[in-house]
Amino acid sequence: MLYFSNRHGALHAEGVPLATIAARVGTPAYVYSTAALQASARAFRAGLAPIPRKQLAFAVKANPNLAVLRLLAEEGYGADIVSGGELLHALAAGMPAAGIVFSGVGKTRAELAAALDAGIGQFNLELEEEGVVLAALARARGTRAPAVLRVNPDIDAGTHAKISTGRRQNKFGVALANAAAIYARLAMLDGLELRGIAIHIGSQLADLAPLEAAYARVGALVAALRAAGHRISHVDLGGGLGLAYRPGEVFPTPAAYGAMVARVTHDWDVTLMFEPGRFIAADAGVLLTEILWVKPGAVHPYVIVDAAMNDLARPALYDAFHDFAAVRPTGARMTANIAGPVCESGDTFAMGREIDAVRAGDLAIFRTAGAYGATMASTYNCRALVPEVLVDGDRFAIVADRVTPAAKLASQHLPSWMNSVEPAASPRRAA
Ligand code: LLP
Repeated sequence: MLYFSNRHGALHAEGVPLATIAARVGTPAYVYSTAALQASARAFRAGLAPIPRKQLAFAVKANPNLAVLRLLAEEGYGADIVSGGELLHALAAGMPAAGIVFSGVGKTRAELAAALDAGIGQFNLELEEEGVVLAALARARGTRAPAVLRVNPDIDAGTHAKISTGRRQNKFGVALANAAAIYARLAMLDGLELRGIAIHIGSQLADLAPLEAAYARVGALVAALRAAGHRISHVDLGGGLGLAYRPGEVFPTPAAYGAMVARVTHDWDVTLMFEPGRFIAADAGVLLTEILWVKPGAVHPYVIVDAAMNDLARPALYDAFHDFAAVRPTGARMTANIAGPVCESGDTFAMGREIDAVRAGDLAIFRTAGAYGATMASTYNCRALVPEVLVDGDRFAIVADRVTPAAKLASQHLPSWMNSVEPAASPRRAA
């Protein structure tokens, strides 16, 4: 929050007044802080100081902006990717291929081939057949694919159901009970260099206990695999460390997480891999918006902002809380609902929340929007795709353009069997 703070009565991103960015770029717009990204990347790494051998891979899905990835590459982070598109982004940002880990439950053959050709560091296999296909692709290239097997530990991570991934009914990984047999079969394939296990039980975890329980199950599996003669050199512990979205919320720190990991894994003798996304990016971004109207409501007034669920989907999807603050707070407060212009009641950021008093024309921000914000944006209601701005001290740059409805329209085509639209022929003009 330090990086988006009030200076002389107005919110700034580092040294830049948010009003300056709104005037130059327009709203809505995501604004990221370089210093905040660096601070969280360093805090996460520092928390893992007790871990002797480790690799950090930023979960690109949290924020695939090229400049953000570039910055994290400079911080020594690799990338955890889940698609060919994310591979493209990570490579374009200069992340070394060797530091790229390919997760994801539905990798296509074309994506596997592209990742092999790029020489990425590790494939996290989600099922046996994927390993067979990958091995064949690697053999055809005269190479061996470094891979680990993702297991599903059947642990409830205690987070929102839509972002829990480690329960047995979830689609991810292979059941723990089948893992050793699958591992043994995959280990015999020529095209694979099978070297360990991966796990990821969910996101925005508020409690270390489920993680610890899941890691303990992985530890038992590693011991069993070794007893069966397998060489285990890598274990990928996934991401998931949560952080406060509401003022006053308390979450485990990276240091507490690192201490737990060190304790549970002390005798594993492997390189540990980590895939943090949200922890690195969430607090480093805000969504800057303008208040369009304040209209009366049945119980509380509606503050209608120019950002909507297509720009920041998390409240509509997960009932997520994003703190709201006026860019020029007067000190007055109001209780209001906050909603966007999209034609759904789900396009609501808050109901009956006490907020800074705002009026039409004011600027405001939604905080903690740097992760799973812009990347989940859409053009629903034929709205523009929201732009992204990176601040560094007193300077800022547009790091993703606003994609206008006109540009989106230009990508559409009428089929040859329809008559093209002649503007002059429109009835109203003809009249
Ligand atoms: N590794 C794997 C295999 C994952 O599936 C994920 C997130 C991560 C790492 C990063 O997790 P993190 O450190 O960011 O918690 N759109 C949702 C979050 C979906 C997370 C999906 N997987 C949201 O806005 O809350």
